[in-house]
Amino acid sequence: MLYNINMELKILSKNEINLAIKDEIASLLRRKPNAILGLATGSSPVGVYEELVKAYQVRDISFNEVTSFNLDEYIGLEKGHPQSYRYFMDNNLFNHVNIIKSKTHIPSIDKNSEDYFEKYDNRIKDAGGIDFQILGIGSNGHIAFNEPGTDFNSLTHIVDLKESTIKDNSRFFNNINEVPTKAVSMGLKSIMNAKRIVIIITGKNKANALKRLMSKEITTDFPASILNRHNKVTIYADQDAASLL
Ligand code: F6R
Repeated sequence: MLYNINMELKILSKNEINLAIKDEIASLLRRKPNAILGLATGSSPVGVYEELVKAYQVRDISFNEVTSFNLDEYIGLEKGHPQSYRYFMDNNLFNHVNIIKSKTHIPSIDKNSEDYFEKYDNRIKDAGGIDFQILGIGSNGHIAFNEPGTDFNSLTHIVDLKESTIKDNSRFFNNINEVPTKAVSMGLKSIMNAKRIVIIITGKNKANALKRLMSKEITTDFPASILNRHNKVTIYADQDAASLL
């Protein structure tokens, strides 16, 4: 099997992955206290956020000057909905550290919002670009909500979620009918503009996705494959995800 040599692959336990990414962010924040972080939601980064909160509590790091940009948000959930990504970020990270809330950005389709999607990429650019981007991956290869078929040149846009994503995410809702069918998402080009990218791939249900990511094929059928064209990507995978390699 041919593996891409551009992306670094680290196979570690989940705990080690969380600590390694926390350490990278901690050293970035020491070097550059006003760093721009690109953040993801979902199960994959939860442990990293826990480690960041712990590091903040022992005053190892400060988020006082940090600006953050999240990858995506559902469309159609009422404000404060427990499955909204704003709620997720507040509860898993922002409420527990000293980040300034007005410097945390989640894309929105509300024209009156400062994070209106058409301005989102400019806002990122004006802030100086994302220094460190955390990603998860969907079983169909999506990154953010860039589903198969998304243009590699895409910027922040509105997406129709694929059936497989709605099914995957229904575990967070009472039933599948409650899962929104649309979202606003940073595009693949927006993500590729980040200076450094880490992608967390854990669990048996991601084994096929990791195998496909490691093949040299770059195709819009598998959006994450675009990461092969970035020269500062590390894949953090656990043994379960690596079981098909
Ligand atoms: C979330 C996001 C998605 C998730 C992906 C994996 O902000 O952008 O691409 O990273 O759906 O989700 P989990 O981590 O729940 O398996």
